[in-house]
Amino acid sequence: TITPIRKICCIGAGYVGGPTMAMIAKQCPDIEVRVVDINATRIAQWNSDTLPIYEPGLHEIVMESRGRNLHFTCEVDSAIAEADMIFISVNTPTKDFGVGAGRAANLEFIEKCARKIADVSTGHKIVVEKSTLPVRTAEAVKAILSGSSSGATFDVLSNPEFLAEGTAVEDLLSPDRVLIGGESEAAIGALVDVYAHWVPRERLLTTNLWSSELSKLTANAFLAQRVSSINSISALCEATEADVDEVAMAIGTDSRIGPKFLKSSVGFGGSCFQKDILNLVYLCEYFGLPEVAEYWEQVVKMNDYQKRRFVNRIVRTLFNTVSDKKIAIWGFAFKKDTNDTRESAAIYVCRDLLREKAKLSIYDPQVTADQIKKDLQDVLRNGDAELSEASARLIAENVEVVDSVEAACCNAHAIAVLTEWDEFGKVDFPAIYRSMQKPAFVFDGRNVLKSLPLDEYGFVYQGIGFRR
Ligand code: UDX
Ligand code: UDX
Ligand code: ADP
Repeated sequence: TITPIRKICCIGAGYVGGPTMAMIAKQCPDIEVRVVDINATRIAQWNSDTLPIYEPGLHEIVMESRGRNLHFTCEVDSAIAEADMIFISVNTPTKDFGVGAGRAANLEFIEKCARKIADVSTGHKIVVEKSTLPVRTAEAVKAILSGSSSGATFDVLSNPEFLAEGTAVEDLLSPDRVLIGGESEAAIGALVDVYAHWVPRERLLTTNLWSSELSKLTANAFLAQRVSSINSISALCEATEADVDEVAMAIGTDSRIGPKFLKSSVGFGGSCFQKDILNLVYLCEYFGLPEVAEYWEQVVKMNDYQKRRFVNRIVRTLFNTVSDKKIAIWGFAFKKDTNDTRESAAIYVCRDLLREKAKLSIYDPQVTADQIKKDLQDVLRNGDAELSEASARLIAENVEVVDSVEAACCNAHAIAVLTEWDEFGKVDFPAIYRSMQKPAFVFDGRNVLKSLPLDEYGFVYQGIGFRR
């Protein structure tokens, strides 16, 4: 039997570990939560007034519990040794080398955590996989833990996190469901009791370990598939005078389809969708299911096509050349209300525009200039060190990062809206129009300006999935 959890340790103070543990600490004053990381800078940021990630409402929650029952520290060993329950919430990037490069998940960090836990633990511990992992990872984790020299015993649970960035606090506060997979009723019960502090019991779903691991990849694959499906239809809409938003509304009212996640865009981004689908594809191939692999791979291919299609449309509309033309880029984050740029469509759109010799003036309300330049540098280099200098020069000569949409638009030939920030709908469009080259084009990759009378102001306006 397992006594109630009193001390939790979370390994990994990232996008997932930080907010999740802050919520557990807030809701469970009787539990002490320690979040550890090997990155001392990150830990220092969590202990400062400027948290390492931007999420609405996160600051308040951290301030409420920090120093009380929520601690951020680099002392990994003692935090593990003293905890009853250990969450593993480290990054699992796509492997960029060796077998499965570009598709398989790199489990190096997970394995290091498991070995560390095996080394420093005594007594009984519950180890919880929080990171998104390929199905059957728990098998490897269990094998490593069973090699503990101290005679410690372990239960392994899978508890994938479904929070979305930008709404992390809301999602953690009232999740659609919390999924807990495991083999021991007692261990599952211990984690259920933690969440039951604030999540209604009927939303605490329990399954076997493998279903839980697989459900996380499947959920992200289905969500991404909806976006690729509606994006594929957006191309057909532009060819036929149907309007993708009307089509989405029409199909979304069918309760079997549902209205959410049907917003056509320049393409999905974020740290999860592409990575998880490629991982799913790799798993299918590994288990000898090439047809299934090919089916899911198409979701990523459609997303790449959507980004390319957007750039091609800009070039074609600007009289087949954007050479030396200034283009204002509105938004660089992969969606609004986050400063995260991982896999953002903006990175690929900007890369392709730079290859067409355009000059870019980029504005994003949350992403720093350094981050934008680093992302562009990385994508232009594409892993080739020899291209470092050439790509740095290309960026220095053709990219500026500015601090307002007005600055971005002055003398520009076109605006490309790549993130759906609310503030973009509220700018002084007549003034912007006057400051631009004519004809002044707007390419709206998010359809956020669609309801504004941009044509009346003089702009040539094009969005995704409709023609005017
Ligand atoms: C379908 C559409 O549902 C309906 O809106 C449209 O007007 C006509 O086409 P129908 O072909 O009558 O209707 O049957 P439906 O209930 O949709 O099932 C179609 C097939 O899918 C069946 O063979 C059904 O067994 C199968 N199915 C459906 C599944 O295998 N799994 C499911 O979850 C749902
Ligand atoms: C996603 C899942 O939603 C979340 O459950 C999981 O835990 C992590 O991955 P996240 O990547 O933070 O979360 O963002 P999400 O809101 O899902 O958006 C992903 C991308 O899809 C964004 O680039 C977004 O702009 C795009 N998107 C989303 C669309 O283009 N259209 C839509 O209708 C919805
Ligand atoms: P996620 O989006 O999954 O939360 P992040 O990259 O934001 O991923 O965060 C993962 C964190 O895990 C990073 O801060 C990283 O330093 C940390 N980490 C990775 N490996 C270890 C380890 N062996 N011990 C402690 N922390 C680790």
